[in-house]
Amino acid sequence: MSRVAYVNGRYVPLDRPSVHVEDRGYQFADGVYEVIAIEAGAPVDEALHLDRLDYSLAELAIAWPMSRAALKVVMREVVRRNRITARGIVYLQVTRGVAPRNHAFPADVPPSLVLTARPLPAIDAAVVRAGVRVVTVPDLRWKRADIKSVSLLPNVLGKEAAVRAGAYEAWMVDETGRVTEGTASNAWIVTAAGDLVTRQADHAILNGITRRMVHAIAAEHGIRPVERPFTLEEARTAAEAFLTSTTSLVRPVVRIDDAVINDGRIGPLTERLLTFYLEHVRSAPPAPRPARTTDVGAAT
Ligand code: PDD
Repeated sequence: MSRVAYVNGRYVPLDRPSVHVEDRGYQFADGVYEVIAIEAGAPVDEALHLDRLDYSLAELAIAWPMSRAALKVVMREVVRRNRITARGIVYLQVTRGVAPRNHAFPADVPPSLVLTARPLPAIDAAVVRAGVRVVTVPDLRWKRADIKSVSLLPNVLGKEAAVRAGAYEAWMVDETGRVTEGTASNAWIVTAAGDLVTRQADHAILNGITRRMVHAIAAEHGIRPVERPFTLEEARTAAEAFLTSTTSLVRPVVRIDDAVINDGRIGPLTERLLTFYLEHVRSAPPAPRPARTTDVGAAT
């Protein structure tokens, strides 16, 4: 089945060229994005993702491309047109728009909006539980990793290093020897004393929606996460480790470089948090029938 994208007011086949060569996203990485999971055809934690989009846009002084209500309608229409009735993901990108190349903000230019979506296989809990390996790389990013910017070159290089090493993810380490986060996920450990630790949501990390949900779910179950930086050495000698993201869920980390964690198996606290998080994802409300969308972009 051919996939359909939403590009600045139109639903178009994904392979039809439709983004202007002078889009500032293309030339300057001057834009932001969100990745939202679809479960049972409905967005998971949509409000939190749209709140974070609002934050990223505001920090970069980029206007909303349309109202929040209209964006929700477009998202559902992209999901429907790509026939995602079970699990999938939506990618949503807003850039500062199209203008002759000049670093300073252009005047009176509308932001560009692109949405794509694709189906994913159903979550295989056994595969998730099996865990993954991570390698470590220096954190080469700018000092505003809290903004979900499309400027992802250090993340791309880090993930490539992981793939080349046969690992799933790379954890980035700052110049003081502390783990910040993964290239596309947040990093967690359980210390030998049993503390659940993840870095505080400062400018050095993206405040993951999965991170926030896991934090909230843990607290609901009487588990109090400690938010503080942790060193690579602490991580290597941790009782348990895991990473979180929209697409990776709660994913046990069973090896960090050459250090084996918990004999290479999911730890008990990670197992509990994964179970709780899967319950949360699977309890997403069923998708409402999409409204007609002529008010937010011509159907093609
Ligand atoms: N990545 N940290 C970074 C650097 C990320 O890129 C992501 C998400 C996260 C986790 O955020 P969340 O729980 O909201 O997905 C943390 C997405 C999935 C991506 O770029 O594909």
